[in-house]
Formats: sequence, C-alpha cells, structure tokens
Amino acid sequence: MTMLEILEKKKLGKALNREEICFFARSAAEKSVPDYQLAAMLMAIRLQGMTDEETAELTMAMRDSGHVADLRSIPGVKVDKHSTGGVGDTTTLVLAPLVAACGAPVAKMSGRGLGHTGGTLDKMESIPGLRVGLTEEEFLRQVREIGVAVVGQTGSLAPADKVLYALRDVTSTVDSIPLIVSSILSKKLAAGSDAIVLDVKTGSGAIMRDLDSSIRLAENLVRVATLAGKPTVALISGMDQPLGTHVGNALEVREAIDILSGRTKGDLKEVSLTLGGYMLLLAGKAKTHGEAVAMLEEALESGAGLKKLAQMIAAQGGDPRVCEDVDLLPQAPVQKQIFCARSGYVSKMDTAALGMAAQSMGAGRLRAEDPIDFSVGFVLQVRIGDRVTPDTPFCVLHARTEEDANRAEAAIRKAVCFSEQPCERAKNFLALVTKDGITRMD
Ligand code: URA
Ligand code: CA
Repeated sequence: MTMLEILEKKKLGKALNREEICFFARSAAEKSVPDYQLAAMLMAIRLQGMTDEETAELTMAMRDSGHVADLRSIPGVKVDKHSTGGVGDTTTLVLAPLVAACGAPVAKMSGRGLGHTGGTLDKMESIPGLRVGLTEEEFLRQVREIGVAVVGQTGSLAPADKVLYALRDVTSTVDSIPLIVSSILSKKLAAGSDAIVLDVKTGSGAIMRDLDSSIRLAENLVRVATLAGKPTVALISGMDQPLGTHVGNALEVREAIDILSGRTKGDLKEVSLTLGGYMLLLAGKAKTHGEAVAMLEEALESGAGLKKLAQMIAAQGGDPRVCEDVDLLPQAPVQKQIFCARSGYVSKMDTAALGMAAQSMGAGRLRAEDPIDFSVGFVLQVRIGDRVTPDTPFCVLHARTEEDANRAEAAIRKAVCFSEQPCERAKNFLALVTKDGITRMD
C-alpha cells in the first residue's frame, strides 16, 4: 500500500477501508511519509468528507497510535467531560469536585490554552505549588483515594493527532467534521473513561459559530463515540459571551472557588451543574437529570464540593488555603475599574476578541513555548441584555502595566456592542444531542 494510492481514492470521493485508514494514521504518528502527502490527504478529507464508519476507523486508529490509559483499577463508572473550547469557561474546576463529592470518580486529563481559549491546566498552575504532571501511577492512586484528579496527559496520547493537528492549522483544514471528531475523540478514548459528556460551544467564541454546524458536529461526535462503545451525550452551549465573568488564569480559579463557596451565582454555575448532572446520570448515580442536579446543589450548599477541591489541590502539591482565602492567588500589580460610559443595552459581544484581549495581556500564549502570566486578565461586569448607564461598572482590568491596561481597555470596549433597544439575554443551552436524537432548547 502507498500513500499515493490512498490519496487517489479519497480524491475521487471513495470510502477508505480500515487498512488504508490505519496506514494513514500510522504514517502520521511515525512521520514515515512526507508532510505534503499527509497535508494532501487532509485536504482530500476536508473536501470529500468521510462516512461515519471511516470517521470511526480514523478515530480508533489515531487512538491506537499511542498510549491508551487503563482506568480499570478505579472502581465505578468513570465519566469524562470535554469542551470544544471557550472563554471564561472554567466548568471543570467547578464540576469535577462536585461530581466527585457525589460519589462518581473523576479521572480527568485536561489541556492547555489554545489561541483565544483558556486551558484548565494553565488555570490550575496559577495555584501556588500545584503540579499537573503526575505519573499514571500517581494519577490512578489519587482518584482511588480522594475520587478526583485533574492532570496533563499521563502518556503520549494519540501522537497521530499531534502531527495532523499541526498540519491542519497551516493548511486551512481545521473546519472538517471528520477531522475534528477524530481529533477530539481519539484523545478522549485514549484517556480511558467509560462514558463522555461533551460541551460543544456555539457562537462568536466557538470553533463552529452557527447553531446548525454545531449540532452537526455534536451529532457526529455522539455517533462515533457510541460506535466506539462509549455512552456519550453532547450539549450545545452558547459562546456569544464569555461563560463566567472572570477571564484569565488565577481570576478564573477565583471565580470557581467563589461559586463553590456559594458566594457567586450566574451562567458558569448553571452550565457547570447542568454538565455535571449528565456526568452523574451516565455514572449511574441518579435516575433523572433533575435528581442529579439536586445532588450537585446539595454538595455545593454543604461545602462538600469546596472541601473536595481543597483535597485535590493538596494531593497535587498545591496550597489548599486558596479555597478559604482567594487573595492567596497571584494578583496583578495594576487593577483598574472602568465604566460603561454610555446608556443603552448590551447587545452583542465578540467573544473571540475578548479572549484575545486577555491573551495579549499575557494570560495566553502566541506560541506553544511562551510563558504565561497567571495574574492578568479581566472581570467583565455586564452580560448581554443588561441595561446600563454611563456610571454602570463595565470591567475591572488586571494588568502588568498601565499601558497594558489601556490597550486591553480599548480592545474590550471594541468587542462589546450596545444598542438603544432592549435585547434578549443569551441562552446557556441551545440543544441536547444523544444517540436517540436532538432536543432543541432554543
Ligand atoms: N479540539 C481538538 O482537539 N481538535 C480539533 O480538531 C478541534 C478542537
Ligand atoms: Ca443566561
């Protein structure tokens, strides 16, 4: 078999068989064929598409290109959660301790920030002393002992994806449903959980910006994960504004702790409880989603969730006192309150631009090797639909210098639109996708 033969076949829109797909995935992982042939194949897939069976074969071949974690030594049903990436989206730090406090083990491998979106590992590392680089042995032991661990990959998971993702980024082939599905699910399947809850973002800060393509992506993810033997549900959630009010690494940890302490409510809390509810449901800990959410609310009100977060932080070498005193988290030297400076209603936000504003303050990376400043970012004090006057608080900037604060202020003001007419609030959830079909919530 040669790459040229497979390329010829996909170019003409024919379905590839298992051997051909395995050859392609192996060639990518081993870099045993030149990049130009891999890139040509990616473009052929982007233009000709793949059947569900081909996508499932590609997903499994990519999963098997590296280490597959074995979580069988942890008793119970292990449910993973994955988000396609957002801004101010700290659901993992809220729901992982709550779900664990309700008795379902959470063995989670998370990622770093990418482009305008934040990453759980970077946020966690803003906690003084905390380690995300556990060995597989340490990771499994921690979940057996305290029920929860959130870490970086414990082995080389899906190396084929690493190669293909980098090529997609530079060949205009990111927006291909079979390529997104195989990329996300190869890593999720290699991480070893028994069931998966997917949070597929839609809107101005999401990989798929319109609802129909987000639903199509969710359907494909659910179909392929189900074919691979993992019960999976997907929620489509709105990214027309940052999910939480806080954007930036230590700031987002602060908001998660504020929610677990019962001091803060809002969309981040609602989305975390809804996603966590589906995790408990798939773990068999509740009979209905309503019952599952009530369990999580109880764990929040009793303080069991916050206590679980403190245990997890301590187990990973971090300072658990941040759960009692959020001022122990890194703080930026410049903090500046700005106001709306006009009357009207908040009508629209460019979420990706808001994420980039935080990134350019130092909260994210432009290149993989860039360092991060954990302390910087902003707290956005308005939501879509809010009525404002000139002296309504708009945003608190947390910056390294006055100059950085001023630059971020300009970018944030440009990314938030106002109108004279009242505007509807943004919805948190737009659809639920299961193996049985789609339920629209819009
Ligand atoms: N996230 C991934 O891991 N892969 C994609 O292709 C898109 C989002
Ligand atoms: Ca809302």
